[in-house]
Amino acid sequence: MNKTILVGAIVMVSSIILSVSNIALADKDSESHWGGTFERTSTVPAINNALYATECSACHFAYQPGWLPARSWKKMMRNLDDHFGENAELDQMSNDTITSYLVAESADHQANRKSTKILRSIRANDAPLRISTLPYILRKHDEIPQRMIRDNTKVGSAANCIACHTGAAEGQFNEHGVTIPGYGAWED
Ligand code: HEC
Ligand code: HEC
Repeated sequence: MNKTILVGAIVMVSSIILSVSNIALADKDSESHWGGTFERTSTVPAINNALYATECSACHFAYQPGWLPARSWKKMMRNLDDHFGENAELDQMSNDTITSYLVAESADHQANRKSTKILRSIRANDAPLRISTLPYILRKHDEIPQRMIRDNTKVGSAANCIACHTGAAEGQFNEHGVTIPGYGAWED
């Protein structure tokens, strides 16, 4: 390879890196700050599967697949007849479709920072079923007293993300969009 080609190749690779990082920047939460070329988005991608959105929102907020690893979703989908004390069973075809969607979009396949941190916070052979008690999620909520969560009739459970996170359906969970029912906007 002569020198001109080599320089050309380097310029090309750097401009690809630059454009990728610009896409990431455009998509970032307002809370995050420019920390380097490879900073990632902090939005957990919104749901884009109609069957999942219908079937898995009958009793609660439809959680984005990016909150749990694939192994957790598989375990949950195998045991829907005993789902947190409820029977949430589906016909086989719906179960297969939803499982494929959850696995494909699970934390393992996400580049956003929240999914990455969640994966890092759990042991490789653990398959937790609750998002609300993941170490990362507990840490993020440790300043909120129980009277605002469990004892708050308008919230009832730490699993009720959308009661407080006004942008939850769009995958926006940064602390600036938080309003605790009965208490108002969250001030850090
Ligand atoms: C018949 C009602 C019902 C249906 C349908 C249902 N769930 Fe649930 N789910 C529950 C209940 C009840 C809980 C526990 C909620 C709580 O503790 O506040 C729960 C909890 C969860 C949690 C853990 C929440 C947390 O972080 O603590 C996940 C994840 C979940 N469900 C996923 C699903 C998926 C995926 C589907 C669709 C296949 C589904 N659910 C359908 C009743 C249901
Ligand atoms: C009772 C209200 C409430 C509920 C329910 C709740 N959150 Fe939060 N969440 C908050 C508040 C308040 C903060 C900001 C805490 C702080 O800044 O100390 C927060 C922070 C977060 C953060 C960190 C944001 C950041 O950018 O640092 C994440 C992620 C998050 N919540 C996800 C969830 C998920 C997922 C659920 C449901 C499983 C959930 N939350 C349920 C109130 C709630």
